[in-house]
Amino acid sequence: MRQIRLSAAVLTALALTLPASAAAAADDQPATGLHQNTALRDAAPSGFVIGSAVAGGGHHQDEDYPDPFTGDQEYRRILGEEFSSLSAENQMKWDHLRPSRDGYAFDDADAIVAYAQDNGQDVRGHTLLWHSQNPDWLENGNFSQEELREILRDHIETVVGRYAGQIHQWDVANEIFDDGGNLRTGDNIWIRELGVGIVGDAFRWAHAADPSAELYFNDYNVEDVNAKSDAYYELTRELLAEGVPVHGFSAQTHLSLQYGFPSGLQTNLERFEALGLSTALTEVDVRMQLPGGAEPTEQQLADQADYYARALEACLNVSGCDSFTVWGFPDKYSWVPNTFEGEGGATVYWDDYTTKPAYDALLETLLAAG
Ligand code: XIL
Repeated sequence: MRQIRLSAAVLTALALTLPASAAAAADDQPATGLHQNTALRDAAPSGFVIGSAVAGGGHHQDEDYPDPFTGDQEYRRILGEEFSSLSAENQMKWDHLRPSRDGYAFDDADAIVAYAQDNGQDVRGHTLLWHSQNPDWLENGNFSQEELREILRDHIETVVGRYAGQIHQWDVANEIFDDGGNLRTGDNIWIRELGVGIVGDAFRWAHAADPSAELYFNDYNVEDVNAKSDAYYELTRELLAEGVPVHGFSAQTHLSLQYGFPSGLQTNLERFEALGLSTALTEVDVRMQLPGGAEPTEQQLADQADYYARALEACLNVSGCDSFTVWGFPDKYSWVPNTFEGEGGATVYWDDYTTKPAYDALLETLLAAG
């Protein structure tokens, strides 16, 4: 286990929470500005990747800006300089990859993988079996069980096989439990029509298509020890006992300041590690209430920095947690305002690409760990 401590400079970023004497001590330390030329990826300890979602598809299609990944050069530059891992925000989901039952549209996914190779970045594949963002032809196709199995098998073999050796981790199954820890037998077409056994098959097919890829369960609201993370714990134990190639468990980590920080995060990751799994934080953002488009207060920015730093620390403290990915930047490209009414400000970059206290907190936490 790597144990890390917050450096004085992180504490500077969080000064609002410090007693005066500690804040004065922090003032004697180098200001975070001294590190302004250090990228997050360069500050990370060896073997630890710091990722971002690649903005495109999904909610972006309803916005009036050009595709961020291809049309915003400043965005593209920062994506390459700051991050050592990329996740497709939408470009590898079924609705993007599968215009029809017989067709695959790989251009956008290929572009991300090629860019990652040019920039020496890992890629996380997201996602193969999910209840959301599936094409209409699939959801409304009235397929037989046999046909559905064949459709999923073909998809996994084709997609995972195409990027074999190039995609390091796949979110094979995404969000298969609800918050009560019940399998999504209603809205997940695969589980509803084929039963829970299809989940193990999905992992087997993915492993056969790329034996080098690490295969994950991924979900939100599983940061703490709770009914939902318990359900994953039990299921992965069963699957591992059956010899199913499950390699990792990841917590999306979409946090909101209106709820307390999930203080059981490290303990929760550790119990999955004890099963022999890798762990990761895959979609980190920290939203805040900004009614009527209000600007964040200093306090909100400090609290946000604290949440980001604590999430990163929890991962750094668990030896098999080698990957921490933020769910996009800057705020203007974030999915949050489209999904959570009255909330926003969730990323570590302002819209002009200057950095927030949360960015400094990540940087200093990485430097302290390195
Ligand atoms: C979100 C994207 O960020 C949006 O662009 C899209 O409109 C909806 O999906 N959990 C996941 C991600 O696993 O795929 C979701 O991404 C956010 C929640």
